[in-house]
Amino acid sequence: MQNAVVMTLLSALAGTLGIAHSVSAAPARAARAAVFGHVGKDAVEIYTLSNVNGIEAQIMTYGATIVSLKTPDRDGHLQNIVLGFDTLDPYLAGVPYYGATVGRYANRIARARFTLDGTTYNLVANDGANSLHGGTRGFDKRVWRSDATASRNSLKLTYVSASGEEGYPGQLTAHVTYRLLDDDSLSIEYEATTTAPTPVNLTNHAYFNLSGDPTRSILEHKLTINADKFTPVDATLIPTGELRAVAGTPFDFRTEAVIGSRIDADDAQLSVGRGYDHNWALNAAHDNALRFAASLADPVSGRVLEVRTTQPGLQFYSGNFMNGKHAGQGSVYGYRTGLCLETQYFPDSPNQPAFPSTILRPGETYAQKTVLHFRTLKAPAN
Ligand code: BGC
Repeated sequence: MQNAVVMTLLSALAGTLGIAHSVSAAPARAARAAVFGHVGKDAVEIYTLSNVNGIEAQIMTYGATIVSLKTPDRDGHLQNIVLGFDTLDPYLAGVPYYGATVGRYANRIARARFTLDGTTYNLVANDGANSLHGGTRGFDKRVWRSDATASRNSLKLTYVSASGEEGYPGQLTAHVTYRLLDDDSLSIEYEATTTAPTPVNLTNHAYFNLSGDPTRSILEHKLTINADKFTPVDATLIPTGELRAVAGTPFDFRTEAVIGSRIDADDAQLSVGRGYDHNWALNAAHDNALRFAASLADPVSGRVLEVRTTQPGLQFYSGNFMNGKHAGQGSVYGYRTGLCLETQYFPDSPNQPAFPSTILRPGETYAQKTVLHFRTLKAPAN
């Protein structure tokens, strides 16, 4: 509640100076903040960011998580397009990364180990023999600190990950900044520095359902992915190292395709993933420029989400492990009622020398950005 503290101090100061009314306009600039719950004695705050067109994002400090994201459909009707929960308890009880910031290493690391500069590091295996999304207690399960500069439309969150946490070397200071811009986009910027060389791979794990009705499956959504190649996986979802052309396969989303149209095709990669659960190697040289990664459209509501990123990869996960076990915000989250578009470096990069490097060294700054842009289709699509 740093904002509240600042406001209290400002009010006290203004009162002393006899100008109490002159500070009363200040709260309008601040994001609305509230306490969402507690982890031990740490308060978990929830911030509501908004833009001039009424788009609203709720972000909480536990896991630097997007709890809800309300955008208009083609008739201007605002609805939440990410799956989440009304209270902190389900998040604390353990849900699979709903809306969370994932780190220190998003996605899988084979056999939960890697060798860096001649030393082998053992991570926590939490996905069979592999490490998934940072281990047992990754960044999604930590309380982040909010920056006092939170404004109506932006919020900067910080988490300091101790050296040795979940097996990773070096103390890593990570920042995530959310900005809800008036051009109807949500920008997510990541920054990190370290005290010792370490792999870093940060992403957001929102489950989107653009219909605004999480009882509907995402199979009717139409998807485009700007990638000529993807990284096929073994039976444990670790990349084999191959970069395979998508041409002629159900992984070809270079032109818009309905997700459900090929998801049940007889394809060895779809069967190991139980659907789509793969990383696409985004087109264009990896030069840290923001580039088009994907677009997702829901013909019923008319909502379109466009994803741009500096990151080289995109994990498209079609909610194949969702099973109705979790319910929130009035709906049961059933099989394939949400999908993730996780901009990231490739899975298992610390063990795959041919993949773009994820190693951050002292003195360097990890900096990545993903922009989610929301618009609507003009007329009902067929
Ligand atoms: C992974 C899935 C996993 C899901 C939830 C995704 O990022 O690719 O395999 O089941 O996260 O843990």
